[in-house]
Amino acid sequence: MSKKSEHILITGAGGFIGQALVSALLQSDSSTNITMTDVSVPPIPSQVENYKSQITATAIDLTNSEDANKLLAGKFDVYYLLHGIMSSGSEANLELGYRVNLDSHRFILDYLREHQQGAKVVFPSSLAVFGPVSRQDEVVSETTMPFPQSSYGTQKFMIECLINDYSRRGLVDGRSVRLPTVIVRPGKPTAAASSFASGIVRESLAGVRNTLPVRSDLDMWVGSPDIVVQNLVLVKNIPKERFGIHRTVCLPGQTVSVQQILEALERVGGKEKRNLVIEERDPVIEKIVESWPSRLDTNRAFTLGMHKDISLTEIVQNFAERHVK
Ligand SMILES: NC(=O)c1ccc[n+]([C@@H]2O[C@H](COP(=O)([O-])OP(=O)(O)OC[C@H]3O[C@@H](n4cnc5c(N)ncnc54)[C@H](O)[C@@H]3O)[C@@H](O)[C@H]2O)c1
Repeated sequence: MSKKSEHILITGAGGFIGQALVSALLQSDSSTNITMTDVSVPPIPSQVENYKSQITATAIDLTNSEDANKLLAGKFDVYYLLHGIMSSGSEANLELGYRVNLDSHRFILDYLREHQQGAKVVFPSSLAVFGPVSRQDEVVSETTMPFPQSSYGTQKFMIECLINDYSRRGLVDGRSVRLPTVIVRPGKPTAAASSFASGIVRESLAGVRNTLPVRSDLDMWVGSPDIVVQNLVLVKNIPKERFGIHRTVCLPGQTVSVQQILEALERVGGKEKRNLVIEERDPVIEKIVESWPSRLDTNRAFTLGMHKDISLTEIVQNFAERHVK
């Protein structure tokens, strides 16, 4: 008997990860149907132009419960909840952060438990759920108690807890994956405190002077967009029994110092590009980023079959090949 094609909803689909995920899902199964949604109609990525007939793109503000209701009535096979307000954005606007990162997510999960019990949900959480580590070489994992030091991390942790509880009760089949800081992000700087980690490569390779707001010996936990989206695709196919007593997984990534990102930039773009990065420390950004751990134990992800990340030089090289003219 042939397998039924999945119909997948991606919220926040106009964003960085959402755009990459559409292509990765279709690459992994070309019969997939996808509904993309965001506050304005998300673009269909050029790589999947040939699959246009399988893709619907729609504009919905998910804080509007009436509109969200109409969207969710579509009864999808998998729900990727990627919409959100990033770390600096939720720190700057408490109301907005809680409305989008907490309330709209709770609304969707409650809709599903009432109307589509057991629906599969993938939620991108973050290493911002962790509290500060006592030593820079401390390794954290899914069993480390989170003490988030930002509203963003707090909101992510609350949704992780909700997903665990609803999954335990069989109300949804949730999977929360803690993403590393994903670099290199194309486009413009964002409201994420870690935005500079992409900016120092992206802006420099484009020949634009840019600022580094943190000390260069700061270690960070980063991951490539390619491997993060491959793992996001993979996580929906893991049988729910394999998660055991909780649904949280730290995705593979790697520990790098900001200095190592600068060295990879220089290897790919040359000294001239490296010299476009100007150190100008911002204590607010530095405090948020310093509060995140930089070493994660990702054995649980590997046991579940997830892919290991590629090297930092490959990450920068891939970005240069795809996005630098
Ligand atoms: N990119 C990373 O490094 C990273 C790291 C950890 C976790 N995450 C998480 O992964 C998810 C995707 O990240 P991203 O980098 O693609 O973010 P992004 O900012 O590029 O995309 C998020 C999208 O959500 C949309 N959105 C915001 N409010 C909305 C609303 N009220 N209704 C509907 N859509 C709304 C935005 O318009 C945006 O397009 C986010 O939840 C983020 O917290 C990302």
